[in-house]
This record gives sequence, C-alpha cells and structure tokens, in this order.
Amino acid sequence: MIKVVAHPIIEHNLSILRDKLSSNAEFRSSTHTIAHFLAAKAFETLDLRPKQVETPFEQIDGAEISTDVVLVPVLRAGLGLLEAFRALLPAAKISFIGLSRDEKDFSISEYFFSLPKFSSQTKFIILEVMIATGGSVCSALSRLQFEEAANFTVCSIISAPEGIERILSEHPNVEIITASLDRELNSKKYILPGLGDAGDRWCGV
Ligand code: URA
Repeated sequence: MIKVVAHPIIEHNLSILRDKLSSNAEFRSSTHTIAHFLAAKAFETLDLRPKQVETPFEQIDGAEISTDVVLVPVLRAGLGLLEAFRALLPAAKISFIGLSRDEKDFSISEYFFSLPKFSSQTKFIILEVMIATGGSVCSALSRLQFEEAANFTVCSIISAPEGIERILSEHPNVEIITASLDRELNSKKYILPGLGDAGDRWCGV
C-alpha cells in the first residue's frame, strides 16, 4: 500500500529541495521539515494503552504509545529524516543500514548494519529519502526479514513508480509513505524530475 502525503508546507519545501540553486543549509532544513509530516503519517497507526494521569486538578484516563518502534535510516541521506522521527517519538530505537550502489551495474552492497533488541510485534520504519529502483529498500527489507523482523513501513520524500512497483511486488505487505510520486527514472537511475543526489546535497558534497 502506498500513501502520498499532501500539504502546502510539503509542496513549498519540495520546491526548495528540487531547486538546483538551493544551498546545503536550505536542503537540510527542507528535508527536516518534510520529515515531520512523514513521521506524523507513519505514527498514525501506532497503538495506545491506557494510562492514568493526575492533572493539577484531577485524575483522568490518559494514554501512552505501546508500539515498540525501530527507526532504520538508510545511510547516508536517510539520516536527514531521522531527527524529525526521533523528535516525535523519543522512545524509538535506532538501527542503521549502510548501502552503496555500484554506478555501473547499479548493484547494492551492504557496508554497515546494526540492530537493537526487538520482538515479533516491533514496527520497523525504514527511512530512505529517494526510492529510485527500490533496490536499497528491498535489500534493507530482506536483511531485516532475515533477522526475523516482520512489520514494516517505508518512508521517503520522493519515489519513482519503478521503485514502488518493485518493492510492492517483492514485499506486498509493506506500507510505503512518500511526499511525492515522481514521473520516472533516467538511464542512470536518477529520479525525474527529482532533486539530484540526495546524499550529496544533504552532506554538502
Ligand atoms: N538517489 C538519489 O539521491 N537521487 C535519485 O534521483 C535516485 C537515487
């Protein structure tokens, strides 16, 4: 299932991200802003358990999040999404996955992986700024499934139809949340109209 999150603040910041003249500071700031909307959408389905709360005046029936969440930024650009997710849910745990893409044959190789303790109920939220071919996300999903993780949401700022199709055909039960479904990939597997290389622009390369 794919959900495209729409909001005027997202539209405004997407245009800043797409503008080749935007500075690294502007790129980071707009990535961070859009990430809040993705996080709010991804957290909409978290479970709550009852919690008694004493206000300064009386006792009320309150609530607290009961879902165990692991955030999985895909290095490098996924780090740009992490802070907003962590700000909304400070108790979330963090797993890191480092994937690099061969520029010639576009194959994916893993150079780093870390995983906190989790249970079969844990919700894994994969943070990947650009879903292009879907190769990185499918590698991350397969790696986490190998570790027996089972419950996944993928969040991206921009997605290409080719990548979405691949992810949903290989992992039909995954929820994908994106701020934009762009037109297509070019011959070098960059997204059009896209924003260029998100990792380079976020890191200031
Ligand atoms: N990764 C990026 O950073 N940009 C693209 O367009 C595709 C993959």
